[in-house]
Amino acid sequence: MRRLSTPLSPFTMSQPMPLEETIQENHEENHAENQETYHLQSINSTILIRQLPSEGLSFQLWPAANTLVTLLDHHRHHDTNPLSSFLNTNHRLRLLELGSGTGLVGIAAAALFGASVTVTDLPHVLPNLQFNVDANAGILELHGGAVNVAALSWGDVQHMEALGREYDVILGSDVVYHDHLYEPLLQTLRFFLLGSEKEVVFLMAHLKRWKKESAFFKKAKKVFHVEVMHTDTPCNGSRVGVAVYKFVRKGGEKLNSMLSQSKLM
Ligand SMILES: C[S@@+](CC[C@H](N)C(=O)[O-])C[C@H]1O[C@@H](n2cnc3c(N)ncnc32)[C@H](O)[C@@H]1O
Repeated sequence: MRRLSTPLSPFTMSQPMPLEETIQENHEENHAENQETYHLQSINSTILIRQLPSEGLSFQLWPAANTLVTLLDHHRHHDTNPLSSFLNTNHRLRLLELGSGTGLVGIAAAALFGASVTVTDLPHVLPNLQFNVDANAGILELHGGAVNVAALSWGDVQHMEALGREYDVILGSDVVYHDHLYEPLLQTLRFFLLGSEKEVVFLMAHLKRWKKESAFFKKAKKVFHVEVMHTDTPCNGSRVGVAVYKFVRKGGEKLNSMLSQSKLM
């Protein structure tokens, strides 16, 4: 886990660091378990996350996840603008996370805001995701958070329809990487952001790695306003730091009818 640098405007905040890390060799299943704990300052609580690095990228924590959790924790502490415009609701916050991986972001968000969160990923990732949700059941209960684990393969209409559209905010960290996933991810965003009665925000933490990623943003900007909300100072010799983007649909009107048009789906 890399150490995060001091972020740039609009936020100044201290970064949560893993408090401890233990590597446990599981010889029977021939994989290493790596358990990390994260302290959420605003609620003085610690979250435990199991990674299974040998199982693949879906079982590891990515730097953008840490940045997004830090941003949410800081907001919870200081009620920062402009996050308050969509995180402060007069009902229980309903969040959906895409490509949750180990689940740190969704579990932390549920605890921080006492929110109802659905964490999602490809079916084979769900057992570890559920393990991490269960490992944090006590913290979630203490803070009134609830986390549901569900399959969502981006662009899978059956999965998306099963989840419904009753969300205030969609979360994602490090979900833009392979170019063949750009279109399914955009299709998923169009489903949840364009198909809702109300304005739904997609809050995405992203570390730019390749020039080709600009194709994702170019396509996204055809239907969404995309705004940078936060940027980390680059560290470890990188030229860029993790950025957090806010996506909202263009135009205030309900765009349900557009979903059926081939241009959008
Ligand atoms: C780079 S990892 C990031 C994981 C986690 N969000 C984090 O920041 O630690 C990308 C995640 O997207 C998921 N993913 C990849 N392709 C997907 C797809 N087609 N549908 C849904 N999730 C997908 C992966 O399983 C993985 O958990």
